[in-house]
Amino acid sequence: MPGPLEGEYFSLMVKLGVNIDHSATLRQVRYRGMESLGEPDILEIARRCEAAGADGITAHLREDRRHIVDVDIPRLKEGIATRLNLEMANTPEMVDLAEKILPAYVCLVPEKRAELTTEGGLNVLAELASITTTCDRLQASGNIQVSCFVDADPDQIRAVADTGAKVVEIHTGPYAEHFSDPGARNRELQRIVQSAELAASLGLVVNAGHGLNYLNTAELLRAYPDFFELNIGHSIICRALLDGISKAVQDMKSILAAI
Ligand code: PXP
Repeated sequence: MPGPLEGEYFSLMVKLGVNIDHSATLRQVRYRGMESLGEPDILEIARRCEAAGADGITAHLREDRRHIVDVDIPRLKEGIATRLNLEMANTPEMVDLAEKILPAYVCLVPEKRAELTTEGGLNVLAELASITTTCDRLQASGNIQVSCFVDADPDQIRAVADTGAKVVEIHTGPYAEHFSDPGARNRELQRIVQSAELAASLGLVVNAGHGLNYLNTAELLRAYPDFFELNIGHSIICRALLDGISKAVQDMKSILAAI
């Protein structure tokens, strides 16, 4: 069975993985424990992302289940037409779950309970043995492609290659945070480009993500056009709210007008 990347790798255009976590955040505010009845239906969100051109769907099952919950993962895996990228911490619970559900990708991320979102990259150097074991298990279990989310740091990139993971996702958060300061922005861009080049030279597929939006993504791609995929979430969900609010209000007004 071909791996999910086979045949896709030589496509010229960078792929877009849409992270739909924050559509689930909205659902959980009102429907925690009643997810099957809850709005929005995140499978429908995922399908609409795909219909609009998303190349993959990313969902982070956090230990505290603050947005995506367990039932979402098999439902997304079965219901989407593209590839599910399951973001998860490297814990026994999550590794067992991934082995059962067999998403196309697993992206290993660090997780702290108190953080609002993933704050930094995984420290692969410090956890080399355990991450290597997880990569071996997942890659042996049924063609899961394992990715590690790391800072733009050459030592971390080399460590990812040492684990046997095939994919690295470079943390673009610091670049996004410093976007309004040209000096700092360029420093962060250079770190990303150097890390991406190193990763590619080590044979890794190179993805990137975190904090990317409608203002900062083009410049990142101009600096390094060879990313395989960008994973973008918060900004797309926010744009969806803004661009969708007029129609949503008009649809409700037509119901009122029809009575
Ligand atoms: N990549 C990883 C590994 C992430 O943890 C996240 C956030 O969950 C993203 C990409 C997407 O980040 P954002 O929501 O800022 O676009």
